[in-house]
Amino acid sequence: MMKILITGGAGFIGSHVVRLFVNKYPDVTIYNLDKLTYAGNLANLTDIENKPNYKFIKGDIVDANFINKLFEEHKFNAVIHLAAESHVDRSITNPLEFVYTNVIGTVNLLNAAKQLYKLDSLKFKMFYHVSTDEVYGSLGDTGLFTETTSYDPHSPYSASKASSDHFVRAYYDTYGLPVVISNCSNNYGPNHFPEKLIPLCISNIKNNKPLPIYGKGENVRDWLFVEDHARAIDVIFHNTKPGNTYNIGGHNEWTNIDVIRLLCKIMDKKLNRAEGTNEKLISFVKDRAGHDLRYAIDSTKLQKELGWKPSLQFEEGLDKTVDWYLQNEEWLRNVTSGEYQKYYDAQYVKR
Ligand code: NAD
Ligand code: DAU
Repeated sequence: MMKILITGGAGFIGSHVVRLFVNKYPDVTIYNLDKLTYAGNLANLTDIENKPNYKFIKGDIVDANFINKLFEEHKFNAVIHLAAESHVDRSITNPLEFVYTNVIGTVNLLNAAKQLYKLDSLKFKMFYHVSTDEVYGSLGDTGLFTETTSYDPHSPYSASKASSDHFVRAYYDTYGLPVVISNCSNNYGPNHFPEKLIPLCISNIKNNKPLPIYGKGENVRDWLFVEDHARAIDVIFHNTKPGNTYNIGGHNEWTNIDVIRLLCKIMDKKLNRAEGTNEKLISFVKDRAGHDLRYAIDSTKLQKELGWKPSLQFEEGLDKTVDWYLQNEEWLRNVTSGEYQKYYDAQYVKR
């Protein structure tokens, strides 16, 4: 039976990837390795937790001894690596944590995978590294990021992801480890941790709290429904050659203020509030330091070579996402009642 290790599977995107693989490939055992930081939540996976081909392992990718033993014991056939510190604002207050997990954690996994590949190059098939469009830096008013755009990260988060991408490519060039990297744009959808823009504003609208928009809200992001990202990872993992890179994105650019206005409108209707009620909650606050102006992905390569495309229009996806949050009050309450809330309150006061 093939064994795939998915790291960060209790987080936002990882949980959708784990669910897709567990359900779609019953003959493959999926191992979900996650440290369960503030962003990891096993409640994201209750629907598949008892499936015979799913196993959860709690552990830290920064712990090299633990990782080496784990790989020796299970002899995984492939790794899909999503575990990361992922929030730009947290990287500004605590960059080192991002170096540990995103850089050192990735190199620990690469070393352990390299050992398995050395042992039996036919059995170890793929190290799939999930990365971000933020490594390319910021665009002006025009243009798109392609797979050949030079790296130009600006935040400690994107610098740590860029560094990890370079290590992954170096292990392909130096040791022949079969690797693939994908760089994706902003995801949204169910199970998104409510410190990121969209889930934060859904939660705040529901609770009649201010919607903090950085600067003038003119920054542009290219939004993709999270299940479409998970599908892209599946398509790439099963069809690409080692050494390849793909950009994944929604061709769906929105300024932050327009996203929040649309969200306010959707939620006016769903919460039976008069039109325009929620927009009054919008509050412009101090800008993020080093805030990238615009991200936009050209995913032509993935669409042409592997036939992937996004399945949902943004309005439809956002509507579906709001429904999920309104129907999963307990999930939201549980994640907003603890450590995150303290972090968020402290940040919000500072701005
Ligand atoms: P997330 O913060 O929701 O989840 C990260 C997961 O990694 C959590 O479950 C956490 O517990 C786990 N983790 C963190 N540190 C760990 C460690 N040291 N050892 C083991 N597990 C650890 O992140 P996400 O938004 O789901 O992002 C997943 C991946 O996708 C990241 O690599 C991120 O850079 C990338 N990505 C995210 C987006 C996005 O829009 N969210 C877009 C493109 C790429
Ligand atoms: O582009 C992919 C990246 O998207 C991923 O690599 C990151 O892991 C993910 O967190 C996301 O990064 P962003 O910084 O774009 O996401 P965030 O939701 O934090 O912010 C989206 C935009 O909204 C950004 O321009 C900053 C702004 N923002 C964010 C927050 C949290 C606000 O205006 N107010 C807020 O309170």
